[in-house]
Amino acid sequence: MARLLHLDASARRTSFSRALSAEVAAAWRAATPGGEYVYRDLAADPVPHMGEAFTELVYYTLEHNITDISRYGEAVRTPEQAAAWAIAEPLLAELAAADGIVIGTPMYNFSIPSTLKSWIDHVTFPKMSLRGRAFVVAGARGGAYGPGTPREPYDHEERYLRAFFEGHFDVEDVEFVHTELTNALLDPALARRLPEHERSRAAALARARELGAALARRTAPAGSADSAGVSPGVSRTADANGPAGGTADANGSAGGTADAAGAREAGAGR
Ligand SMILES: Cc1cc2nc3c(=O)[nH]c(=O)nc-3n(C[C@H](O)[C@H](O)[C@H](O)COP(=O)(O)O)c2cc1C
Repeated sequence: MARLLHLDASARRTSFSRALSAEVAAAWRAATPGGEYVYRDLAADPVPHMGEAFTELVYYTLEHNITDISRYGEAVRTPEQAAAWAIAEPLLAELAAADGIVIGTPMYNFSIPSTLKSWIDHVTFPKMSLRGRAFVVAGARGGAYGPGTPREPYDHEERYLRAFFEGHFDVEDVEFVHTELTNALLDPALARRLPEHERSRAAALARARELGAALARRTAPAGSADSAGVSPGVSRTADANGPAGGTADANGSAGGTADAAGAREAGAGR
C-alpha cells in the first residue's frame, strides 16, 4: 500500500504554502484509493532543537558505520540519549515508511522555517539513504526568486532543500512548486505586482495538482496498473564524509513569474 507523509511548516494557519501542499496531498489521495496518509504540522507541534545527546547518537552511528535506519536505536546508551531518540524515532519511522513526502514551507529570511530545519536535523543520520522515495516541496514567498531574477541567488530555500534531499538523502525525485510575490497583497510598494502574484498562485495551484497526481503514479506499488517503478529505499554504505555528491540546482521553480526588473523591488519588500 502506498504511503504519503504530508508536512506543513508555516507559522500561520491560513497560508499559501499550506494551501499548495494540501492541493498536492488531495490529488495524491484522490488517485490513491486506500493509500495511507500521515499528516504532521511542524508549526503546531514543533520538533525541539537537537541537544548534545542527539549529536552523540549521530556520531555513534558514524563511528560504527551504522547506516541502516532500523539499527539507529543501537546508538542509545544513556538516559539522555534515550530521551533524544524518543523524539527522533517516531519522526524517522514516519519518514522511512513513506513512499512520497510533501512539504509545505514558507520562505523565512531567505531560507526555511527553523521548525522544518529541526525536523530535518532529527531525521538525518550520516550516510543514510532515502533513495526510491519522492519529495514534493510546496513553497510560498513574499518576493520573487525565479530563474533570471535579481533575487535568485538569495533563494536558500529551494537551493538548500534540493541540495540536501538529493545530496544527502540520495533522493532523485525532488519537485518544487512556489507561490510567489505574496507580499504584493500587503506591501503598498508591491501593489502594482498583484497580477503577477495572482498568476503565480494560479499556476502554482495547477502545478500542485499535477505534482500530486504524478506523485501518486510514482508511489503506486510495483506491479500495479499505476506503478511508475518505485524501488525501495536502501541504506547507503559509501565512504562519503557527510552529505554526498549532488550539487544544488535552483532551476525548475514553478510559479516564478517575476520579471528581472521588478524582482529587486519584490525581494526588498519581503
Ligand atoms: C519571519 C518572516 C520572514 C520572511 N522572510 C521572507 C524572505 O526572506 N523572503 C521573502 O520573499 N518573503 C519572506 N517572508 C514572507 C513569506 O515568505 C510570505 O508571507 C509567505 O507567503 C509565507 O508563507 P505562508 O503563506 O505559507 O505562510 C517572510 C515572512 C515572515 C513572517
